[in-house]
This record gives sequence, structure tokens and C-alpha cells, in this order.
Amino acid sequence: MPIWRPFTPHHDETPPPLRIVRAQGAYLYIDDGRSLWDGTCAWWVTVHGHAHPYIAEAIARQAATLDHVLFGDLIHPPAEILAEKLSQKTGLPYVFFSDNGSTATEVAIKIAIQYFFNQGRPRKTLLALEGAYHGDTFGAMAASARDLFTRPFEPFLFEVKFLPFPSPENEARFQAALAEIENDPDIIGFIGEPILQGVAGMRSYTPAAWDAIARAVRKAGGLVIADEVFTGFGRTGSFLATDQCQEKPDLLCLSKGVTGGFLPLGLTLAAAHVFEAFRGKDPLRTFYHGHSYTGNPIACAAAVANLELWERPETPQKLHELVQAQATLADKLRQLLPPHTVRHTGLVLAIDLPGTPGYIAEHRHHLKAYAISRGVYLRPLGSVAYILPTLASRPEELAYAAEVVLSYVQERGTVAAL
Ligand SMILES: Cc1ncc(COP(=O)(O)O)c(C=O)c1O
Repeated sequence: MPIWRPFTPHHDETPPPLRIVRAQGAYLYIDDGRSLWDGTCAWWVTVHGHAHPYIAEAIARQAATLDHVLFGDLIHPPAEILAEKLSQKTGLPYVFFSDNGSTATEVAIKIAIQYFFNQGRPRKTLLALEGAYHGDTFGAMAASARDLFTRPFEPFLFEVKFLPFPSPENEARFQAALAEIENDPDIIGFIGEPILQGVAGMRSYTPAAWDAIARAVRKAGGLVIADEVFTGFGRTGSFLATDQCQEKPDLLCLSKGVTGGFLPLGLTLAAAHVFEAFRGKDPLRTFYHGHSYTGNPIACAAAVANLELWERPETPQKLHELVQAQATLADKLRQLLPPHTVRHTGLVLAIDLPGTPGYIAEHRHHLKAYAISRGVYLRPLGSVAYILPTLASRPEELAYAAEVVLSYVQERGTVAAL
């Protein structure tokens, strides 16, 4: 087969991929007639459900009206409406467009570096959190945990200072690291996934810890970059994860759920003082970054339709219902599984699977196959199983998916029934 799949080992025993021919609501339909309940939101992008008619129609209308323009000189109503709506929602008045989550973070990092360059006082130290994942382009990789994904590229990645993950056992190290950065005149800023690290294994930390990092970074004169590529659009229980925090970012990265999961789009929102540093006639002040599909009108129309769905009262109601359902399931699972192996944040329910932790744990193949044979699509992060439902899901479907994970664990150990 000529398709080189991402994040997929290719060898003689690689199982063939499933062919999905249709999707609707919470379900994917395989070409052999079977259906799968989607517990991944298609790599965390789908929000209201697959093929949601409201977004599908907005896309069809836009595709027949205006396909694409050279966004450097030409703008269009879907981009204007989208930028206006997001600025109002976030308080960040400027929106830079790109194509995916990695470019949204790459752009934020480049803007932060150039922000200081443009003011004639370049700085050198970018901060990130231990375990971070910000994407697969070079800047995004540099700001991500140095691990399996980044190993071949390490000699080519710029240095980043990683702050200890703010868990209770790291408290002393965490506080010491914050004290150290407060007076460091070389800090460019901090990039972090607010309150929930996804790829690291669905690890949450408190809004207070996010606020503490942001305050220390601001004392040092640095910028705060919220990477909400994963956490945005309801995943942590609020529209944005930073809605739960007091310290708002100077730069905010959005992608994945921004189009409701239909089309690729990356956005980097910026505070006025950030944009001001780029204003001026000196050619060196300009931000020379852009992609061919920047500001694609069809993707923008999908994103506007997504935001309009969020304006309907039933969307936050549905989110609340599913967050409650995940909380109840987490409580039940905690009674049945070993201590500290069940985590719940917003829509995300995560379970540490037995055995050696890590991304290459065999569970990623075994649990996936086990769940597919029971009508559920899950893609464990190695030794971490997680269930992330679309808003088209019903609480019974969440309970069924949790039962599938529990019975998988039970067949490999000794735990009681749900
Ligand atoms: C927090 C975070 N940032 C950035 C990215 C990169 O997004 P993309 O896969 O669209 O490049 C991801 C992807 O999982 C992510 O979880």
C-alpha cells in the first residue's frame, strides 16, 4: 500500500488499517458494514460529532462562494467574522492564521522570539513544562519533551528550559524553579498546555499552578503562551482551559477543535502589546511567516459555524452532561482499579494500564484491537488508555467504553466488575 501513515511503525507484521467510508455523530462506519463508537474524536479534533450538518452545510456554501485567496493582500468575511468572534471570547485582539496545531505553536514561539528582537533586546531562554508536547515541526519539537518522538532530531533542537511538572510530589522543585526564573532577564516566555497535558498521558495540574508559572514569567518580563490546541473547545470542561485560570495568555494557540473537526486550521491569537512590537516601517519588524493555505475561507467558515454551535445553549449543556458522566465513571473505576491509575479532567477519562509505562507499551496495539472487536475505537497513548467523547455521544456510550477498558484490564489482572 502506498500510504505512509503517521506515528505508525511499518514492518511486515503491521496490521492493515481499517477503511472508514462514512462517519456520523459519534460513529465511524467501516467498509465491511461494522460501526465503531469514536472515543478519540479523530485525534482530538471532532467536537459536536462527525459530519455535523450545520458545519457541513456552512462548508458547502463557502466552497461554492469563495475557495481561497492570497491572504497577505486579500481578506474575506469568514476570516473577519472568525477573528472578531474569537477576539471577543478571549480578549486577545489579533489573530494570525496558519494550518494546524504545530504551526499554531511554531508561530507563537517565533512571535515571542521576534517580540524581543524587535525591541532591540533579544532574549534566549524559552520555558516549557516537563512532558510537554507542542507538535512536530522543529520549534514545536524543541519545546516538547525530549523523548522517543524527538530523539533523532535532538542535535538540531534549540535549548529549552523545562520546568518540573506541578504535581504534589514535585512541589519543592517546582517552587524552586519558579523562584529561579522570576529574576532571569533572558526569559522569552513560557509555552504550556494549560491544566492538562494530552500526549504526556492525560496529566492534569491545577489552574493555580498555571497562574503561578504565568506570574513568575511575567515578573521576568516574559510572555505567556497557552497551547490550547488540545484543551480548547470544551475538552477540560470549560470552553478554553484558561477560562479556569486567572492569568490569561499573551499568545494563545488554537487548532484541532477550532473547525469542529472538519478542516485543518491553526490560529495564534496575540495581545495588543505583542502586535505593537511588530508595527512599523522598518522591514525587520515584519513577521515573515505564512503558508499557502493561510486563512482558507472554507476552514474559516467551518470555524465560524463551530463557534455558532457553541453559542447555542444546548452545547454547554451537553458538555456539562458528559463531563458529569465521565466524573461518575471515574469514581466507579477508582473503586475497582489500583490506586492512582484513574484520572478525570473535563471530557477526558484516562486509565493507566498495568505494566511498564510509556508510549511503546504493547497495550497500544492490544487494547485497540480488543476495543475494535467490541465496537469501540480507542487509541491508547501507550500505557495510558483514554476516552474522549464527541458531544454527539450519550452517557451510556461512555459507560460502555469504560467497561471495555475495564474488562480489558480485568482479563490481564484481578479487578472487580464495574
Ligand atoms: C497540545 C498540542 N499542541 C500541538 C499539537 C500539534 O497539533 P497538530 O497535530 O495539528 O500539528 C498537538 C497535537 O496533538 C497537541 O496536543
